[in-house]
Amino acid sequence: MAMSSTSVLSPQQLESWHDDGFLVIEQALSPEACEQLRRQALMLVDSFEPAENATVFDTNDQSHAADDYFLSSGDKIRFFLEDGALDDSARLTRPKAQSINKIGHAMHDLDDVFASFSRQDPLGQICTDIGFSDPLLLQSMYIFKSPEIGGEVSWHTDHTFLWTEPQSVVGMWVAIDDATVDNGCMWAVPGGHLEPPRFRFRRDGRGGTTMEELSSEPWNTDSAVPIEAEQGTLVLLHGTLPHGSGPNTSDKSRHAYTVHVIDAGADYPDDNWLQRPTSLPLSGFQTA
Ligand code: FE2
Repeated sequence: MAMSSTSVLSPQQLESWHDDGFLVIEQALSPEACEQLRRQALMLVDSFEPAENATVFDTNDQSHAADDYFLSSGDKIRFFLEDGALDDSARLTRPKAQSINKIGHAMHDLDDVFASFSRQDPLGQICTDIGFSDPLLLQSMYIFKSPEIGGEVSWHTDHTFLWTEPQSVVGMWVAIDDATVDNGCMWAVPGGHLEPPRFRFRRDGRGGTTMEELSSEPWNTDSAVPIEAEQGTLVLLHGTLPHGSGPNTSDKSRHAYTVHVIDAGADYPDDNWLQRPTSLPLSGFQTA
C-alpha cells in the first residue's frame, strides 16, 4: 500500500532534525488516543502476576532467569519492575502499576490497541519525511516512570541497543503524561548524534549480554537540554543521539510510549539482544 506523499514536517523541522538529532512535534497524537493507550497499558498490568515470575524477579538481578526473561521478550508482552519494587522476600512494596518500570517489547504487534496507536497518522508519514524507505516497527515500550519510584535512565544512544548496519534506528517517543523537569523528562545533547558511536550492547554467545566499548570519549552532557513535552507530543530521537532522563521524584506519573523503527534495507545483526522468530516477522506502518 502506498503512503501519502504529503509531507508532515516543514523544511525548518527537517533542518532542526538534521542539526539537533531530535525533533519535538507538539499535538501529534490526540489526548483521546493517549488516554486509550494508558487504559490499555493498565489493563495489561492488571493481567500480570508477579508471583508467577518469582525467579525472574529474584532480588539477584544478575540471575540467568532474568536475562532470559529480557532476551526472549522481543516477540512478547512482558513486564519489567523498578529497582526497589520488591522487598527481601521478593514481594511488591507498592501497588502493581506503580512497581512496573515498563512493558515491552512487542505490544505493537500483539495487542490491538497498541498496534493501531503505533501505526496511526502521522507516524508513518513522518518516517518517510525523515528518509526511511522501508520502515519496520522493531520494538515498543510503555514506560511508567511512576511517582517517587520511577528510576533514572542513564545517558545512552538507542543505536547501542538496536544496532543496524548502516545505522537506521529512530525512536518515536510519545508523551502520555505531561513530561517536565520535575517528573523526569528526557534530556538530550543537541548535535551529539553526529559523533561516532561509543558502545554496542550485544549477546555474548553464552546466554548473557555484553556492553562493548567502541570509544572512551565522553559525551558532552554539559550541553544537554531538557525535552519537556505535553501529552500527545511526539519526540523523534536519532539513533546516535545521547539522551537520558532523571528519576521521578515528584508526585506525578510520567507515562510515555516509544516505538523504535529501523529500515528494512539495513543489516540487522544476529547478536543484537532483540531477535524476532520467523513466526512473528517485523512489519511496517500499513495496516493489514
Ligand atoms: Fe533511549
